[in-house]
Amino acid sequence: MNTQGKNKIFRSLRSRIVLLILSVGIIPAVIIVSVLLFGYKNESVSARETEVLSQAKVLADQISNSTYLTDTSLETMNTEIMQMSNIFDGRIMVIDSNFRVIQDTYDIEAGKFIISEEVIRCFKGEEITKHDTRNNYIEMTIAIVDTITRENVGILLVSSSTDSIMTAYGNMVRKAEFLGIFFLIILILVSIFFSKALVAPFQRISQTLDGYQVGFFGEEIKVLDYTETESISKAFNAMMGRMKVVDDSRQEFVSNVSHELKTPITSMKVLADSLLSMEDVSVELYKEFMQDIVEEIDRENKIITDLLALVRMDKSAATLNISTVNINQLLELILKRVRPIADKKKIELVFESYRPVSVEVDEIKMMQALMNLIENAVKYNVENGWVNVTLNSDHKYFYIEIADSGIGIPADQVEHIFERFYRVDKSHSSKITGNGLGLAIARNAILMHRGAIKVRSKEGQGTTFNVRIPLNYVV
Ligand SMILES: Nc1ncnc2c1ncn2[C@@H]1O[C@H](COP(=O)(O)OP(=O)(O)OP(=O)(O)O)[C@@H](O)[C@H]1O
Ligand SMILES: [Mg+2]
Repeated sequence: MNTQGKNKIFRSLRSRIVLLILSVGIIPAVIIVSVLLFGYKNESVSARETEVLSQAKVLADQISNSTYLTDTSLETMNTEIMQMSNIFDGRIMVIDSNFRVIQDTYDIEAGKFIISEEVIRCFKGEEITKHDTRNNYIEMTIAIVDTITRENVGILLVSSSTDSIMTAYGNMVRKAEFLGIFFLIILILVSIFFSKALVAPFQRISQTLDGYQVGFFGEEIKVLDYTETESISKAFNAMMGRMKVVDDSRQEFVSNVSHELKTPITSMKVLADSLLSMEDVSVELYKEFMQDIVEEIDRENKIITDLLALVRMDKSAATLNISTVNINQLLELILKRVRPIADKKKIELVFESYRPVSVEVDEIKMMQALMNLIENAVKYNVENGWVNVTLNSDHKYFYIEIADSGIGIPADQVEHIFERFYRVDKSHSSKITGNGLGLAIARNAILMHRGAIKVRSKEGQGTTFNVRIPLNYVV
């Protein structure tokens, strides 16, 4: 994916984080504030209702204790009623048992008759309180009860404006709106900041990876902001480390190959040049030089064959050509081929088998591996030495041990002998020719069969290779 595409992804990730923070912050805030405001309004209205009701009841008592229902000229009562209607910011009407309005603080209905539903119901003993939310007032009917007869002798019709409550409520709503907008702006800023901070480490990783894509293999990724980015960084660096090792060893291999391939060619060129520069060369000398050239060609040929064998094994285990192989026979055959070389140095070559072993392996590769090991045991041996090859098996594996009484391998070099082109110190095996590929081939072949190879050696005393391979090849 290109950088633009990635930036788009990161942008959408950031906006999703912003939206998440906003919704988490705003929705609960709106709900809480709305509930509080609505609660405040209802509480205020019902507090006002209780207050009006209790005061009106006191007034109703005073009226019933006085002669006001028959004589509205009672000055103290009138002042009391006027005062109370002022306090309630409303209107008080006193109605007698004949439904006649005997007092109206608004002076509109005095002397008229009111036969409304509320009034009738109140005479029947049902006091009614109503809140008109459209016109913002509370209206209630209170019975004036005769103190002695307990009869309903009149009604107080009280209305009180809730305008002040509604104004206070409106103010609060405006304040809440203002605070809400302020809070929203802060929340937007904070969420933008957080979304950037949250996404930034991942963006840094992505940028470094982009750098790798265009071929910049410089520094390691180091984004330690979160555990996740830390483990991504670590995993990536480890992977790059492995790739670098592979790359280094590939380069080393290529340069080794070129060098090894050039050596015989250089020798051939020197031999041919010197033949050409000589005059009147005898046939014997020609033959001798030609013999040397043939040896160099053989050497070149062996290097190429070995390299091809190695490359083929590097590919994959799918190239194994598995068949049932009698290992006893295979070892006998190898020993037969190696015996002439052993005889030259008077080396005793012994094969010991505990039981016949028939296994599923790639015969050619197994042959190459064992041949290289046994060849080495003879090659790096001393006059009158010995080589012991032992074969054994259990229900799962077969085991081959190749022990020799040879020159051994210095302890500090043992770990390198399986590397391609590695040969122990030139002085150590200077007279013995070789390319340093035999053990690399042997080890690869054994590993392809899910086997293992181990070596023990003591300089000047001898070397023992132990090979363990499963009896049946399992993919
Ligand atoms: N049995 C052994 N005793 C002592 N040294 C050994 C033995 N086997 C291997 N080595 C050392 O390990 C080195 C690597 O062995 P390897 O078989 O890979 O290469 P080589 O024998 O030099 O060449 P070739 O490719 O012809 O086998 C040898 O050069 C030798 O120094
Ligand atoms: Mg060898």
